[in-house]
Amino acid sequence: MTTAPATIRRITGTLVEAGPLPAAGLYELALVGEHRLLGEVIRVQGSIATLQVYEDTNGLAAGEPVISSGRPLEIELGPGLLGAILDGLGRPLPDLARTLGDFLVAGGETSTLDQERRWHFEPGVIPGQVVGPGDVIGTVEERPGWPHRILVPPGRGGTVLQAAAGDFTVREPVVRLTDGGTLALSHRWRVRAPRPSALRLPDDRPFLTGQRIFDFLFPVAEGGTVAVPGGFGTGKTVIEQSLAKWADADIIVYIGCGERGNEMAEVLNEFPALTDPRTGRSLMDRTIMVVNTSNMPVAAREASVYLGITLAEYYRDQGYRVALMADSLSRWAEALREISARLSEMPGEEGYPTYLASRLGTFYERAGRVRCLGAPEREGALTLITAISPPGGDFSEPVTQACLRVAGAVWALDPSLAHQRQFPAVDWETSYSEYLNRTLPWFEQEAGAGWGDARRRLLELLQRGRELKEIAALVGPDALQDEDRLILDSARLLRELVLAQSAYSPTDASSPVGKTLALARLALALHDAARTALGAGRVFERLDFAPARRALIALREAGADAWPAAVPGVEAAVALMARGEAVR
Ligand SMILES: Nc1ncnc2c1ncn2[C@@H]1O[C@H](COP(=O)(O)OP(=O)(O)OP(=O)(O)O)[C@@H](O)[C@H]1O
Ligand SMILES: [Mg+2]
Repeated sequence: MTTAPATIRRITGTLVEAGPLPAAGLYELALVGEHRLLGEVIRVQGSIATLQVYEDTNGLAAGEPVISSGRPLEIELGPGLLGAILDGLGRPLPDLARTLGDFLVAGGETSTLDQERRWHFEPGVIPGQVVGPGDVIGTVEERPGWPHRILVPPGRGGTVLQAAAGDFTVREPVVRLTDGGTLALSHRWRVRAPRPSALRLPDDRPFLTGQRIFDFLFPVAEGGTVAVPGGFGTGKTVIEQSLAKWADADIIVYIGCGERGNEMAEVLNEFPALTDPRTGRSLMDRTIMVVNTSNMPVAAREASVYLGITLAEYYRDQGYRVALMADSLSRWAEALREISARLSEMPGEEGYPTYLASRLGTFYERAGRVRCLGAPEREGALTLITAISPPGGDFSEPVTQACLRVAGAVWALDPSLAHQRQFPAVDWETSYSEYLNRTLPWFEQEAGAGWGDARRRLLELLQRGRELKEIAALVGPDALQDEDRLILDSARLLRELVLAQSAYSPTDASSPVGKTLALARLALALHDAARTALGAGRVFERLDFAPARRALIALREAGADAWPAAVPGVEAAVALMARGEAVR
């Protein structure tokens, strides 16, 4: 029996109804119209499939053909991804621009990986060896210092017949199996499905950010998830970029999901210009960017987060520690809302689909620290840092709320702090981390004993400072007791000298944990010393904090190697205060 060829029945924006497609599966790709636009099946009713088209549907007409591919949205994974700038469907942007002109033309089909380039493959397996899913069959030097481990794709395996060193393109066979099968440098993976791993490992290791307020107050575990909600201009992008630069991760996947075109242009111009502080080379050497340009339809934006996380999982599976930055997930959620509305689905809160929270949940669940599938034994991690931009900075809106429920840590950005130029503008009262207790032993061990204690004391002082500030606003600061005035002062000092950190400081943009602890400990010691001085009869008014402040600033502005030399200076100033000699 033959069925008539499928044709377009109806077009609503980027949604297309086509039929007959009785065998179409959900999330399968299809080529739509004369120009073979890429579309994805998002609903099947009888023999009619609803397709979400990833490209501009202008000019598309009813009656044009639709060809089902029988395959879901996939990405080709292999050497050549590092340094790539891809669109939401995995097509290299510079390539698209080169082959199709500056304006992306609908229907452009280019592959993710360079199909001509040859890579030198060093096999890691020998004939007769049995290989299974995730096993490393050899390596390719993708970028200097970054061996790209070639993996047996999940679900594959066999006995090696032949494995030879040599120069290969990504799809040529590099290993032949006795059953006639072959393995290549690249394989395809469907982006909406999580890549498997052998075992989930506990999240007791911190993902070091180099940002004091995060490492010290709201640490995230390696393999953890963070939501960074913040209104307009509160510093989300600066945080994502600082982390891309400084966080202790091997590979960065950066998903730019902007709403304004110039915002994405900025990312595209600025990001590749960043240097990797560890190597002095371009940060792009260990970065993959997924960028949604403003002229791409919402459907591609919706798909881009899955593409990005699949890329991240692929490097995790090689045994790397990967950080995925998404800026911002709100734009993704808006794409989901738009598609849902066109499907006339029952809307949930503020028009978002009722499955928003569960979609977000499954996305966040793809993060984790794992024992990778296959041999040799190796660990990988995927840490997720997602910016959220609630309209009007209102955190009660559905996307922020859904993210807050699933994320392991929340760094809530406060516009009033940003306004005071207190950066990172993290509100320490509403931010939290569920990784605190599990990562504490690491900090106590590696950064220095007293980490937890200093953290607790610092937060107490901040809290006390905030209460006193409210009282002082009512009665005037002069009505406060000396001890309370000191607390007010110390809280401000902790905020300004310990928690604030300029992303643009040449020496303090990243703070090693030892320096973070030293700064906090000494600022607290200064507070204690001043209290001792008050206890010994000194008057608050006459205490001279200037030398200690200067010494603390010198410590803060000392670089990663230089800071220990700045510690004695602060200690001396603190001792002077404790002896009651730091007076005006
Ligand atoms: N850590 C920091 N150090 C110094 N300045 C900062 C820091 N964080 C943010 N800023 C300042 O705040 C400005 C706005 O930050 P950013 O662009 O990251 O905000 P955003 O939340 O991404 O804004 P939008 O909502 O427009 O995307 C920056 O241009 C910079 O001047
Ligand atoms: Mg931004």
